[in-house]
Amino acid sequence: MSMEERIAQLADLRAQALEGGGEARLRAQHARGKLSARERVDLVLDPGSFVELDRFVTHRSTDFGLEEKKFLGDGVVTGYGTVHGRLVYLFSQDFTVFGGSLSETHAEKIVKIMDMAMKNGAPVLGLNDSGGARIQEGVVSLGGYADIFLRNTLASGVVPQISVILGPCAGGAVYSPAITDFVFMVRGTSYMFVTGPNVVKTVTHEDIDMEGLGGADVHASTSGVAHFAHDSEAETLEAVRALLRFLPQNNTETPPSGPGTPPPEAAARGLLEVVPDNPNRPYDMRDVLRGIVDGGDLLEVHAQFAPNLLVGFAHLGGHTVGIVANQPSALAGVLDIDASVKGARFVRFCDAFNIPLVVFEDVPGFLPGVAQEHGGIIRHGAKLLFAFAEATVPKITVITRKAYGGAYDVMNSKHIRGDLNFAWPAAEIAVMGPKGAVEVLFRKEISEAEDPEAATEERIQAYREMFAHPYVAAARGFVDDVIDPRETRDRLISGLDMLRNKRDQNPPSKHGNIPL
Ligand code: HXC
Repeated sequence: MSMEERIAQLADLRAQALEGGGEARLRAQHARGKLSARERVDLVLDPGSFVELDRFVTHRSTDFGLEEKKFLGDGVVTGYGTVHGRLVYLFSQDFTVFGGSLSETHAEKIVKIMDMAMKNGAPVLGLNDSGGARIQEGVVSLGGYADIFLRNTLASGVVPQISVILGPCAGGAVYSPAITDFVFMVRGTSYMFVTGPNVVKTVTHEDIDMEGLGGADVHASTSGVAHFAHDSEAETLEAVRALLRFLPQNNTETPPSGPGTPPPEAAARGLLEVVPDNPNRPYDMRDVLRGIVDGGDLLEVHAQFAPNLLVGFAHLGGHTVGIVANQPSALAGVLDIDASVKGARFVRFCDAFNIPLVVFEDVPGFLPGVAQEHGGIIRHGAKLLFAFAEATVPKITVITRKAYGGAYDVMNSKHIRGDLNFAWPAAEIAVMGPKGAVEVLFRKEISEAEDPEAATEERIQAYREMFAHPYVAAARGFVDDVIDPRETRDRLISGLDMLRNKRDQNPPSKHGNIPL
């Protein structure tokens, strides 16, 4: 064969690899509102940056007549490219080839790029669209999944890992995305469940469809398995790109800086009015953040899950920060099981990847109730406490209003190594709210009083004067300063500048034992 003929053969093979499972299956994929594996790669990466590896890999199976059925690439497109000019590794499962199912060789391709990502310190993006373990390969394909799970685990906290679910993701296959840092889903076309609707029906007699059991909204709002849900694949992949703007390449780097744009003027001017005078009136903590962070922009993570706690990424004077904020407009901003778990996971991500934490606190305490106690609020609330306490990144807190009870300690208090703790002038820092406190302390006196209502009111007033302000905490140095809300942005930026070279570490251990 001449060189020319060999080049022509190479071009033929390359063209064949691009075809995946063929025209008809690709049409079916499009008809369902899904993109092809390669179209997705093109959308998520910078144009023209993709470099493919292993395009000629085929499976080695011979059972069930598979030796006659081979597709170049074996159902997954793998390689590397850039997002905003920065290196990422990715795999994109091709549903048109054996339903994107995972064979021994399909797994080997994924493992290869994961190992490269670890060696070279760059994020891994997994675009998942698969019928799970390739049934014809049996235990060999289960082994392939386990090889991936192990790498997901070892890469955790070393390089960011992002999973995008763009089709079925069922059975044990769900556990790879579950170990990764962020899960994106698409409404109407992506599903995650350990067992599908038919098995559920047989075992528990519950009648439910795929969307209701494990669709994007279910996982983004009820189970918390997904961090983001979007309406289309294009929107989802754009959102992945937006998230990567905030993330460092690996755990030895600091996150990239933003341009440092000031917040919208009106939002900054409005900061004095956002928090109502009446401590029982709600407000939207997003209005506070809008007046403080760069451009007023917060990239919310888990926006639909546990809305009583906001978490997300923002910039402050160009510094990338992780925001954790109580949300008084949802359940009065209490901490419950879901909020604690959501917050803990986010705090640990930020700590693993050198992202400073900025906490906005207005919390009346932990949510009371049998469901919470029996559901393990003690165990779950402890996660958030543990996560804040063990974090060694720069940690700053702003108390905008209430800081009551155990929640005061948990929300990055000075005592668990908050570096800078500020309070706004209307902050109330106490064991509990005035009414509750008076009912406990003066029950006997009040019941014996001639006018119990007046006696209660009088004592509430006295308690308020004693505790419903930040100066008891400030007198002890538990808050470093009481600040005018309009100074918050400058004080945060100056604090982040000051803490830029912070060095702190925990005592040596194999690892802590966070209460899971
Ligand atoms: C081999 C598979 C496959 C699989 C689908 N296909 N799943 N081939 N192994 N796991 C093939 C089909 O034979 C078909 O091939 C093509 O992919 C498209 O599948 P359809 O069924 O036509 O598509 P659709 O109607 O959209 O249904 C998709 C599906 C369904 C819901 C994913 O295919 C399905 O239920 N598949 C089996 C899922 C499953 O039980 N997987 C094992 C889970 S356990 P042709 O040639 O006709 O195009 C698991 C364990 C992981 O994964 C272990 C980790 C520890």
